[in-house]
Amino acid sequence: MSTPTAEQLTAALATVQDPEIKRPITELGMVEHLEVDDAGLVRVTVLLTVSGCPMKDTIDRDVRRALAGVDGVTGVELTLGAMTSEQRAELQTNLRGGKPAKEISFAQPGSLTKIFAIASGKGGVGKSSVTVNLALSLAKAGRTVGLVDADIYGHSIPAMLGIADSKPTQVEDMIMPVPTPSGVSVISIGMLKPRRDQVVAWRGPMLDRALVQMLADVYWGDLDVLLLDLPPGTGDMAISLGQHLPNAEVVVVTTPQEAAAEVAERAGTMASMLHQRVVGVIENMSFLVCPHCGPSHQLELFGSGGGERVAATLSGRFGYDVPLLGRVPIEETLREGGDTGKPVVDSDPTAESARVLAGIAEHLDGRGRGLAGRQLGLTPSDRF
Ligand SMILES: Nc1ncnc2c1ncn2[C@@H]1O[C@H](COP(=O)(O)OP(=O)(O)OP(=O)(O)O)[C@@H](O)[C@H]1O
Ligand SMILES: [Mg+2]
Ligand SMILES: [Zn+2]
Repeated sequence: MSTPTAEQLTAALATVQDPEIKRPITELGMVEHLEVDDAGLVRVTVLLTVSGCPMKDTIDRDVRRALAGVDGVTGVELTLGAMTSEQRAELQTNLRGGKPAKEISFAQPGSLTKIFAIASGKGGVGKSSVTVNLALSLAKAGRTVGLVDADIYGHSIPAMLGIADSKPTQVEDMIMPVPTPSGVSVISIGMLKPRRDQVVAWRGPMLDRALVQMLADVYWGDLDVLLLDLPPGTGDMAISLGQHLPNAEVVVVTTPQEAAAEVAERAGTMASMLHQRVVGVIENMSFLVCPHCGPSHQLELFGSGGGERVAATLSGRFGYDVPLLGRVPIEETLREGGDTGKPVVDSDPTAESARVLAGIAEHLDGRGRGLAGRQLGLTPSDRF
């Protein structure tokens, strides 16, 4: 057996991505030292972006696995180090690609990222459940998905995705979104607080700064889709979002009853006033399948017609079609999925609620734009 070459080893290391930045570690200046002796023992030093990086174990495992797969490698001695602040500053400059700080790339004219803000009139209608399931469905379809939990009251997204206690890694003043096992990158406004149990009265300028931070200071990379879970109602967050991401499209979630529909219409109208397009309405908790009769008997616990009504009202108001995208039934499996951090489209994909939500994701995905399947004609280094 011949000794592996530096090229072979570097090529193997290039298959290892930083789990947060989602780029090869070889391109990020993370491989500091690499040598191999005549017996095929590889000594490698990999620099983490910060010491105590939460993704340490993943990198450790991936590096060992990649090197072990090279012909002639008999052993791997891996040292994990941490970048110096100079190295971090250099990485940050690289990732930014010379662009100034505080620029929201998604709002730039050439951006290919589709943005969907999930809005509702009132709380508790299932906005966050809808958001995580749409995100996961899109990720399953091969899209690169980012999720911003901008709900200042609840910020329940991390728990619903099983990353409740995760803190984002910070590289200088750039924040790395938290990756989920399902491939969605997440930032929650709750993660910006020093402590989880801290109560912050998010208002006006402070809330605006938090939103800009989540959009501009977070290294999202090239996303196909960005989803935002908005706080219920028509408050400061909706206004800030309208100012910073006028190109966001809005999905309105409502429950079937009259009173919910009325406030949902207001949330939709607010989006339109801010020049955002409302792309559709999702009715949640539409019915419960009768435990005795089965699917032929739907119990309408929360009334009926809300989704249709919001869709019709908004279509009339805006002069374009705002369709009802789907009706999601009440199912225990959906609630369980949220409670256990495994959304229903993953944990029970054949459940009716999962099928409806996956179908809505497919519909939204089909509405043009996005990076997927496009030939961009960029060399890897241009993508920084
Ligand atoms: N279709 C459904 N079937 C069963 N349970 C549901 C359904 N939709 C939502 N739930 C449950 O209802 C509760 C509220 O849902 P969720 O947190 O998604 O709503 P929300 O609109 O984001 O609420 P909030 O305003 O508190 O953020 C959760 O426990 C969730 O699991
Ligand atoms: Mg919520
Ligand atoms: Zn029945």
